[in-house]
This record gives sequence, structure tokens and C-alpha cells, in this order.
Amino acid sequence: KRRIGVMTSGGDAPGMNGAVRAVVRMSIASGCEAYAIYEGYDGLVNGGDMIREMGWEDVRGFLSEGGTLIGTARCMAFMERPGRLKAAKNMIIKGIDALVICGGDGSLTGADKFRAEWPGLLKELVETGELTQEQIQPYQTLNIVGLVGSIDNDLSMTDATIGCYSSLARICEAVDSVDTTASSHQRAFVIEVMGRHCGWLALMAGVSTGADFVFLPESPPSENWEAEMCALVKEHRSKGKRKTIVIVAEGAHDQGLNKITPQHVKNLLSDKAHLDTRITTLGHVQRGGTPVAYDRMLATLQGTEAVKAVLEATPDTPSPVICVIENKIVRRPLLEAVAQTKEVANAIHAKDFARAMSLRDAE
Ligand code: F6P
Repeated sequence: KRRIGVMTSGGDAPGMNGAVRAVVRMSIASGCEAYAIYEGYDGLVNGGDMIREMGWEDVRGFLSEGGTLIGTARCMAFMERPGRLKAAKNMIIKGIDALVICGGDGSLTGADKFRAEWPGLLKELVETGELTQEQIQPYQTLNIVGLVGSIDNDLSMTDATIGCYSSLARICEAVDSVDTTASSHQRAFVIEVMGRHCGWLALMAGVSTGADFVFLPESPPSENWEAEMCALVKEHRSKGKRKTIVIVAEGAHDQGLNKITPQHVKNLLSDKAHLDTRITTLGHVQRGGTPVAYDRMLATLQGTEAVKAVLEATPDTPSPVICVIENKIVRRPLLEAVAQTKEVANAIHAKDFARAMSLRDAE
């Protein structure tokens, strides 16, 4: 019987539990055993009861739960080879040679590196007497499959990451609430949303709530943005609008890559547009809470596809990441998806914003 491990890694995202449930149940339904690795890569490095077999009932109720019930961590030990040696040993002891990881691009890159090193790690474990040749014999290749769990929707080659629509829904609810009090007092609000290097949450929140102005990392405003923003909100007010909403992505900056802070935007709206202005930082409210239906569905469809990918893998198949493109669940080469994602960040860094936007569009 094949033993398939599943873990969640990096920042949590609503829908991750649905992915774990789907991997566990699809593994069992396919005649395999399923193991949950608790606390992300920490669980792999520490082994023992942090790697537990999961039965069908163990994931009951997971679908509607927010966060990740098997825990997550940003693990430093796994970044170093001794940590990965321990992880490989723990996997062999448990008889696991396939891992489905639900996380962001960093977590998925780490997993593929682990796969590339796998034969060397096993060899070293035998040479140092940690394991015997007989123990490693059945586990010559490691299968890695990625599921993208991130509220930021920041991975290339997929239209949506598990969690992004839950986060967007949470942001919209919050902005709707702010709207009512803003209108009552005729105030302006600067709302900061998450999305490290990716403006998807900010842009879609702006579209969904009819915000007056949005600041994104990929598409900084014109050089004259301060005056333009003030002129625009004044124009909206002159047409009878009683509130002003400006959404700032946490990674927003101007064309010179100087950070655009909510405080700076607030000062402009107060001093230049003469509006009574408040700042609302939504923070981790955007990341917590129950997944919306779309994320439950995406996690379930992608989790089952991940198990199929494990079972169909040959030693030459590159590690896949499970994506959704135009409503179809598809597999893409994990490293290519990560490389394209990094290209967006590089284009922003090089101030080539047209390229950053075109790379995002190409998704
Ligand atoms: O990666 C998701 C994300 O929510 C980012 O948008 C944000 O910058 C980051 O996580 C914050 O993560 P943490 O508080 O866990 O360091």
C-alpha cells in the first residue's frame, strides 16, 4: 500500500482543511494510506507523533473549518540540509514517499528541492548508519505535488489560489461595514489590505466595493498621483457621494518603489482634500474564518486531483502543481509556475510595471 503524506505550510488560508480532507479521503478511496504531517515542515523534521495516519473519520467536519487544523509553521530547520536529512529519515521510517503540500510558492519550492535531493539524502543516511540499504530500497523516488493555499492569489499559472475568494469576501464585508459609517459622517477611509507582492485582493476588493482609488504593487500610480487622487475624490464628492474609500495593498509603492503608506494617503485626504479621514487596517481578519463555497469546492477538486497526480507520476514527471485555469482543474510544472511568479516580482523590482502587469494578465 502506498502511503501519502499531506501537510499545510506557510501562511494559513481558508480552504486548507478541505484540501487535507480531500487528500486523505481520496488516498483511502484509492487503496492508499494517508498521513497528516502536523505543523508543516516542523512535523517532517521532528517526526514521531507529528506524522499521524488519518482515517476517513479523522477529517470529518474539516470542510467548513477555517485556518488549518493540522497546523502550519515557517520552519527554519528544513531550510538546512541536516533538517532535510532528518525529514527524509522520518519519512522512510513511516514508509511515506509521496507528499502533497498545500502552501505558497516558498513552501512548494522547498518541497521540490527536497525531491531533487532525495536520492542523495537517502545515500547519506545509509553511509552514516542512520538507515540500512534494505530500509531505503522501496523508496527510491519521492513524489511531490503542490496545492496552492494562499489568500493573496499570488501564484502564476492558476486563476485562483485556495483561500483567495474567502479573503476577498471578508474584505468586501468589512468595506461594506465601513461604508455605512463613512456615509453617515461623510468621512474618508483608507483601508489597508494584505497581498504582500500581489495586488489581486486590493484590485478585486476595489472593483467589488466601488472604491474611489486603489494602490497596487504591480501598477503604481502616475507620478502626479497625489494631486490626481485628491482631484478625483473631490469630483466624486461634488457629484453627491457622501463617502470616500481608498484601498491600499500592503505592498503598494510609487513608481520609484517608495512605499505608499495608509498614513501618507490619510494625510493627503485630510490636508489637501479636506476630508475627515480614518485608517482601517484589516490585518489577519482577512486570513481567518470559514471558507466560502468556492474555496471548499476548489480545495476538494484539487485535493482529489493531487492524489491522482501522485498515483500517475513516473520518475521522469516533473513535480506538478494543481491549478485552475478557465474553470478546469489542471496540472502544471511546479517549478515553472514558481519561476513565472518570481518574474513578476523581478519586473516590479526592475520598475518594469508594464511587464509585471502583462505577466499577471498572462495568467
Ligand atoms: O501570504 C499571505 C499573507 O497574508 C500576506 O499577504 C501577508 O503579508 C502575510 O501573509 C502576513 O503573514 P504573517 O503575519 O503570518 O507573517
